[in-house]
Amino acid sequence: MRQDRERLIGEAPEFLKLLEAASLAAPLDKPVLIVGERGTGKEGIASRLHYLSNRWEAPLVKLNCAAINESLLENELFGHEAGAFTGASKVHYGRFERAHGGTLFLDELATTSSLVQEKLLRVIEYGEFERVGGSKTLLCDVRLIAATNENLPVLAQTGRFRADLLDRLAFDVLTLPPLRYRTADIPLLAEYFALSMTQELERDFFAGFSAEAMSAMMEHTWPGNIRELKNVVERAVYKSDPDVPIDSILFDPFSSPFQPLTTQPAAEAAAKITADAASESAVKSSQPKAPCEQAAFPIELKAEIAEHEKALIEQALQTAKHNQRQAAKLLSLSYHQFRGYLKKYNFVGPNDC
Ligand SMILES: Nc1ncnc2c1ncn2[C@@H]1O[C@H](COP(=O)(O)OP(=O)(O)O)[C@@H](O)[C@H]1O
Ligand SMILES: [Mg+2]
Repeated sequence: MRQDRERLIGEAPEFLKLLEAASLAAPLDKPVLIVGERGTGKEGIASRLHYLSNRWEAPLVKLNCAAINESLLENELFGHEAGAFTGASKVHYGRFERAHGGTLFLDELATTSSLVQEKLLRVIEYGEFERVGGSKTLLCDVRLIAATNENLPVLAQTGRFRADLLDRLAFDVLTLPPLRYRTADIPLLAEYFALSMTQELERDFFAGFSAEAMSAMMEHTWPGNIRELKNVVERAVYKSDPDVPIDSILFDPFSSPFQPLTTQPAAEAAAKITADAASESAVKSSQPKAPCEQAAFPIELKAEIAEHEKALIEQALQTAKHNQRQAAKLLSLSYHQFRGYLKKYNFVGPNDC
């Protein structure tokens, strides 16, 4: 059932605070920006905003902006007129038209082009747009909710996101806490997903998790957040003996001695970082670094550098499977220096200190 799928589980204070903020913002007819790491539940919050608003009986239309290229996105958002391009035989109603009277949820907004951003700004400000290939201005009454896992203010400072669109969207910003900041909710969520999976498998009961399995889940840092937890638990349930409590948890389904070597650049880079860090010599390479791309001046040098630092820290954490000491080594930092960076960029919550 739709309602069931959208149940939001959690009692941690950080999460309850967020739910309260969402309830407060819901009835206002203003845009809302939902920010959070992947898998933190942005789509569920968007649904909550819609169903708690006066628009709840009207459509909630969703679109993932990262899933399609610029021209398709423009077409999907604003529709096209018949004959707008070869193959466009009929009028196509865009998502704005289909969401008329209701809510449009745009996921992964940061990936949109400046042309699409410009059109979005106009629609938010004046409710006006044209279909692709059309000259008639159409009006719509749509509440926009957008989501991102990027730092939009930094993207705006560096010219990669329209600052005026950000100002309009940021009427209210709801930031979802990553799962590692709400560890108290891990048992609740794990039980919930385990019971749903038990039902799906048509088993009579769920034998529970052993203390070891639960503490392994409590200690995991969950880079993929609730989506990752859901996968991990569902996998554990379906592989388990129904009569025996689950006592081991497989976090990485790819782990295998037979995993193929890949030639993907990202994997090469990761492998290189690990190899470099492992080398005892720890002598800094005197090789000159490859020149970076030509910048589109003017830029905010400090914001650019901060963003670069954050990206490298995140990569190091991922490469080190969230082992902070190892990640520090990958960056040739002492553990304390590394912790300093984590604090500076809000990578750690009070629980991790
Ligand atoms: N509080 C929650 N309670 C139960 N399930 C949740 C909760 N938050 C997220 N989920 C589930 O986790 C998965 C990822 O959520 P989603 O909203 O798609 O994340 P995001 O859009 O932030 O990547 C979905 O299957 C969703 O149903
Ligand atoms: Mg999403």
